[in-house]
Order: sequence, then structure tokens, then C-alpha cells
Amino acid sequence: MRQAGRYMAEYRRLRERYGLLQMFKTPEIAAEVTLQPIKALPVDAAIIFADILLPLEGMGISIEFAQGEGPVIHNPVRCRKDAEALRVAHPGEDLGYVLRSLEMVKAELSGRVALIGFAGAPFTLASYMIEGGSSRNFVLTKKIMYEDARTWDLVMHKIVETLTAYLKAQARSGAEIVQLFDSWVGCLSPADYRTYVFPYTTRILRSLKAEGIPSIHFGTGTADLLPLMREAGGDVIGADWRTFLDDAWTRIGVDSAGIQGNLDPVTLMAPWPVVKSAAVDILDRAGGRPGHIFNLGHGILPDTPVDNVRALADFVHEYSTRRQ
Ligand code: CP3
Repeated sequence: MRQAGRYMAEYRRLRERYGLLQMFKTPEIAAEVTLQPIKALPVDAAIIFADILLPLEGMGISIEFAQGEGPVIHNPVRCRKDAEALRVAHPGEDLGYVLRSLEMVKAELSGRVALIGFAGAPFTLASYMIEGGSSRNFVLTKKIMYEDARTWDLVMHKIVETLTAYLKAQARSGAEIVQLFDSWVGCLSPADYRTYVFPYTTRILRSLKAEGIPSIHFGTGTADLLPLMREAGGDVIGADWRTFLDDAWTRIGVDSAGIQGNLDPVTLMAPWPVVKSAAVDILDRAGGRPGHIFNLGHGILPDTPVDNVRALADFVHEYSTRRQ
């Protein structure tokens, strides 16, 4: 999950001096931000400081992180012509700064904790491209999906080509595992997921598997999509907090894949005893079985008390050791 960000004072200090895109594109800064949570908290992995929208630039999409508004896309994809104009991004030329950041972090970590690379999944990226930013009902995205199969296929195809090369390049640059974030895929029915998303996400995850690159496949609002997501691929499936962890794992298949999750990030705003009992519930549902990665069910929020995050990471280690 996202673990760097505005809840940390050291991040806010840097952020006052630089724009977000500038931070992503300056490997020294991106490496420093990646390492901030590693230095401050007893977490077991670093996730590279980048954003799911960065590959869109190399495809010809102009992105901006507007203050307080979230991401904005200035030239959204709305018709066949727009889709035809999209390029397939080249990892080395268009995203070399992310690869460089990975190399720097990898050298700095010298194996202390795992390094995670990532990308947005095809549906979530297509939704940003088409809607022009965040969305509630994904009306424009679904309209293209339902009305114009050729345009949808063209957009998804170019995203798949871009992401496959990008994730492989991340692995070559030091990422030990890559995570595919399908953050908004929960807006789809299982039938639509199978028709419009499954074929594309599957291509990326199969191609990674063929090269021996381990992956985590994450989405939110996916209780009924979990079996399909598992079928699409991923050595570990990420679950949000809207299901019990053990139910989610049963749906994925306990013997077929690992599970990552699934504490509600808002729980971290609660008094410590509430956080602790929520963590105990998750760990008890995992039952000490191998293949559970304790994590939040979605990215950490600004205003989260750092002390609770630290206490949680400590507690998860301590309680898991006690269980063994
Ligand atoms: O530890 C880390 O922070 C890892 C890096 C990371 C970022 N974005 C940096 C970032 C990761 C893994 C992401 C993924 C991402 N970005 C997703 C998928 C994961 C998820 O949470 O669903 C999505 C949907 C995005 C798109 C995005 N980027 C949004 C919606 C926003 C605005 C959110 C907000 O809080 O205003 C961003 C900006 C962004 N990307 C921030 C960070 C740390 C906030 C930065 C800031 O305002 O200073």
C-alpha cells in the first residue's frame, strides 16, 4: 500500500519545497521519500515512491496533481481518434527516473527489507484516462466499454503493452515483487469484470509469471471479484477491509495464493486499543497460516497518527511471533 505521505512530518517538510511530479522525477528525492517510512517504522517492505499515473505521460496523456483536488488529466481519451493517438510508453525513455529511484533504494537497503515495485492495473488506469480524474460512477468509462468495443480494446491493449514492459523493467532495476493496483475495479459487476477487464489484466500477470517475477494483485470493493482476480493472476491477492480476512482467503483459495490485508486505514485514527483489537481479529483469522501479508486494506491517509502506525507494526510482529 501507499505508506509514504503527508502523515509523516519529514514528508511534509520536503513537500513544502517541491511539486509532486518533481519529487517523483528526481530519483534522489524519490529514494529519500521511499526510505522515510523504513527509517521511522518497523515495516518489512519499501514501496517505491512513484504514482500509478506516471506511465500515462509516455502514452501522450498530460497529468497534473492539483492541490487538494487529486489528479487531473488535461487531454482525456473520449473517442476512437483519441485512443488511436495513444502511444505505448517505453520504460527506459519515459520512466527512466523510476528505474533509477529503484536502483538507488535497492543499493541503500542492502537487503534489509524487501523492495516493491508497482503499476496501476489496466481498468484503473483506463478510468483515469477516460474520466479525466477521479470518479464516482465511472459513467464515461463504462459508456466506452459498452458502446465501442474497438476503442476499449485499443486503450486497454496499449495500457497492457506499456505496463508489461514497465513492470519487467522495474524487476530488472531491483524490485523483488511488483504490485498491480486495480483500486477502482470494485465498481464493476463480476460479469463485466470477466468480459472487459480479465483478458487484459491476465496478460500482464501471466507475462510476469513466465519471467519468474512475483506479483501482488490488489483492488478495493472486490469481495465478489476475488475468485476472478485470482484466476487473472497474482501470487498474492490484496483484499480491502470490507470482507473478513478468512472469508476472502477462502474465496481466493487458501492453497492457491497468498493474501494481503486488510485493516481499514481509518481504524488507525482510533484509540490504540481499537486498533489493536482490529489487528488481533485479522491475525486470528489468518490463523498463523503461511501466505498472509499483514497490511492496510488501502493506502494510509493524511492525519494518521504516526505513533499508531509504529505501534501497529510492532504489535503485528510481536503477536505473529507469539502465535508460532
Ligand atoms: O509509499 C508510497 O507513497 C508509495 C507511492 C505511491 C503513491 N501513489 C504516491 C502518492 C503509490 C503506491 C501510489 C499509488 C496510487 N496513486 C494509486 C493506487 C493505490 C491506491 O491508493 O488506490 C492511486 C489510485 C493513485 C492516484 C493518486 N495519486 C491519487 C488519487 C492521489 C491524490 C491522493 C491525495 O491524497 O490527495 C495521488 C497523489 C499521491 N501519490 C500522493 C502520494 C504520496 C499524495 C501526495 C501529496 O499530496 O503530497
